[in-house]
Amino acid sequence: MYSFNLAVLISGSGSNLQAIIDAVENGIIKTAKVALVVSSREGVFGLERAKKHSIPATVINNKSTAKLLGELKKHKIDGIVLAGYLSILPPNVVKAFENKIINVHPALLPMFGGKGFYGLKVHEAVLASGVKYSGATVHMVDCGVDTGAVLIRGVVCVLDDDTAESLQKRVLEVEHKIIVHAVRALSGGYIADYINKPPVLRSTSDKEGIHNYADGLKKLSEALVSADSEGI
Ligand code: GRF
Repeated sequence: MYSFNLAVLISGSGSNLQAIIDAVENGIIKTAKVALVVSSREGVFGLERAKKHSIPATVINNKSTAKLLGELKKHKIDGIVLAGYLSILPPNVVKAFENKIINVHPALLPMFGGKGFYGLKVHEAVLASGVKYSGATVHMVDCGVDTGAVLIRGVVCVLDDDTAESLQKRVLEVEHKIIVHAVRALSGGYIADYINKPPVLRSTSDKEGIHNYADGLKKLSEALVSADSEGI
């Protein structure tokens, strides 16, 4: 039976919210249910999704900390998912739910994360950098921006003809998968396993390519660490 009440915080379309709702309804998530949806914006499609599934939903701007804490208490919330939530959670909310808040970020953290990396900007930065792989990360939320412990990543190939929009679309599909795994781990009581050894989902069959890429990164970081700081 459901034991874990989730609040899902959104700012837009709520496709990650939908992935969680579907996984609960299909029995893929057995230990949690969505008990509350909070949007930072009026009129977004995510609110319609909540309504369709008879889930209590409300709009709260991120400055109304007391209102947010009040709603979380009223709905007996055990954990929070930030799913496309474009506001920064106030520190006292983060502290009240320490180690119980997760966020989905559309890149492979710790790269392409932090202040200013949101929405299409993330994918534009990924393309401009020339990296061959991108993906999504679910991480624990602390008081920083995208700095909490990584829980799970999903990898996609960056294609030669990718635009920020096409990459965003493929990354979003991966987000929908990893967020479900992370919710299961959080509500099922095995999140510590994810923190100790974050799993990686791979939507690409290019195992050798990923291996070579990771090997190249390792060599680069070794070279950087041992570089002569007087050299330039
Ligand atoms: C997703 O890429 C999420 O990672 C980002 O906002 C996007 C919107 O997601 N933070 P959703 O459809 O509202 O769940």
